[in-house]
Amino acid sequence: MSRPPQENWSTRIGVILAVTGSAVGLGNFLRFPGLAAKYDGGTFMIPYFIALLLLGLPLAWAEWAMGRYGGVRGHHSAPGIFRLLWRNRAAPYLGVLGLIVPVVIYMYYVFIESWCLGYAWHYLTGAMDLGKDPAAYGRFFSDYTGLGANASVFANPLGAPLVFLVICIAANFILINRGLTRGIELFCLWAMPLLALCAVLVLIRVLTLGTPDPSRPELNVLNGLGQMWNLHVGDKTVWQSLANGKMWMEAAGQIFFSLSVGFGVIITYASYLRREDDIALSATTSVAGNQFFEVSLGGMITIPAAFIFLGAAGAVGGTFALGFNTLPLVFEYMPLGRWVGFLWFFLLFLAAITSSLSMLQPAIAFLQEGLGLGRTRAVALLCGVGTAGTVFVVWFSKNLVALDTFDFWVGTFCIFLLASVQTFIFGWVFTPRRGLEELDRGADFRVPRIFGFVIKYVSPVYLLAIFILWAWQNVGGYVQSFREDSTVRWSILFLLAVLALFLWWIRLAVRRWRTEETRT
Ligand code: ALA
Repeated sequence: MSRPPQENWSTRIGVILAVTGSAVGLGNFLRFPGLAAKYDGGTFMIPYFIALLLLGLPLAWAEWAMGRYGGVRGHHSAPGIFRLLWRNRAAPYLGVLGLIVPVVIYMYYVFIESWCLGYAWHYLTGAMDLGKDPAAYGRFFSDYTGLGANASVFANPLGAPLVFLVICIAANFILINRGLTRGIELFCLWAMPLLALCAVLVLIRVLTLGTPDPSRPELNVLNGLGQMWNLHVGDKTVWQSLANGKMWMEAAGQIFFSLSVGFGVIITYASYLRREDDIALSATTSVAGNQFFEVSLGGMITIPAAFIFLGAAGAVGGTFALGFNTLPLVFEYMPLGRWVGFLWFFLLFLAAITSSLSMLQPAIAFLQEGLGLGRTRAVALLCGVGTAGTVFVVWFSKNLVALDTFDFWVGTFCIFLLASVQTFIFGWVFTPRRGLEELDRGADFRVPRIFGFVIKYVSPVYLLAIFILWAWQNVGGYVQSFREDSTVRWSILFLLAVLALFLWWIRLAVRRWRTEETRT
């Protein structure tokens, strides 16, 4: 039985930029500042950095190590790699999480990506001139995304929302079809520096705003930065602020989402390394790179800019409200705002596409090595499944219920599950001793030995605590929405169908791998 030809990254900087590109996304520029503003500013950074040290970084090292271990033995997808690491019949089936998490997140992520490209285009052509009425931006966003009514985006097949969505879907699949080095690596090699340049230009604009309205001297850059970073505990003490369990949970969720850890992506990307390639320093560099984009760039743009023009009350809002309603209004007040607006949405688009590309590769690798498909056929099949999901999300666009349901069950719940499975397999089956040996081979940096203890004992306990807290706080609300909202029910049915499809494919793959093994 034929195996796809072994692919490898062609340069070290290429793989680091590809992993960093996967990590740096909408989470860095929209979700992170929104959470920091919501949870008492600088106080949020405490659970955030603890989650980084106890979950994010250890799991990133574990994923890189398991990925390279599997890759040099001919496997590039979670089902194949888990089966290799754990000789248990359940192992490849647990790997289904490493396929459906990235694929389902891709289904709605590409829709948001297309908003970014569409908004960038509107700024470039000068069509985004909505004046200073905040409600106008809300209406524009609602019409653009179909927030008001199901299927409204499809009402005008030649309208900007659908046209940019088709462009984004096509760009993703054309790039992924070009292969690992000519597609993902080459694209990230120029897209990541360009993204950094756009972000630095926007940052310079924000940091040089001074005090734009002399009649309100308190609305200045320094206070804007303080809005993001100072402790805003009000009449609480810092300890009371830290006692908010939901903040700890959301900080951990942000670390996973932002680093693309527990996504199934890093394990696949790392599987294309060679036996003696460094993983320890490369993994650490990509984590540090992501944190630079998130904390130093994302953290200094969104909230300070909103504060300088709109004050403390304007510098709050969820992921979408901040990025798509608040900031466009802010650009209206800002000198050179139209161009800053273009740069902002273009950088969001670049951040999003380097992430969405990475979400496709695990399933492509699986379809190739598990079902024996050639690259183009694997890409075509995944394009069909992925686009069906995107059409579903866009069709049920009213209040973005389908998008939210996918994000809740897969973008949060399944990420926790996959992270737990990975921690178990790495910490208890592969064992920290073998894991550290793997990390040390070819290493340019020695991972601290305490990592073994952390991944075996601390991360699982921390994960379990956060998971129980999360389930406690959220599942009740979702059960209720399941009962009351038919779109939620349809969305869950759709997700179950995707799960069943991938489980069936894994069954076929396991049979195929067994036959291969008995022959050799
Ligand atoms: N890690 C990607 C992001 O932050 C998915 O958006």
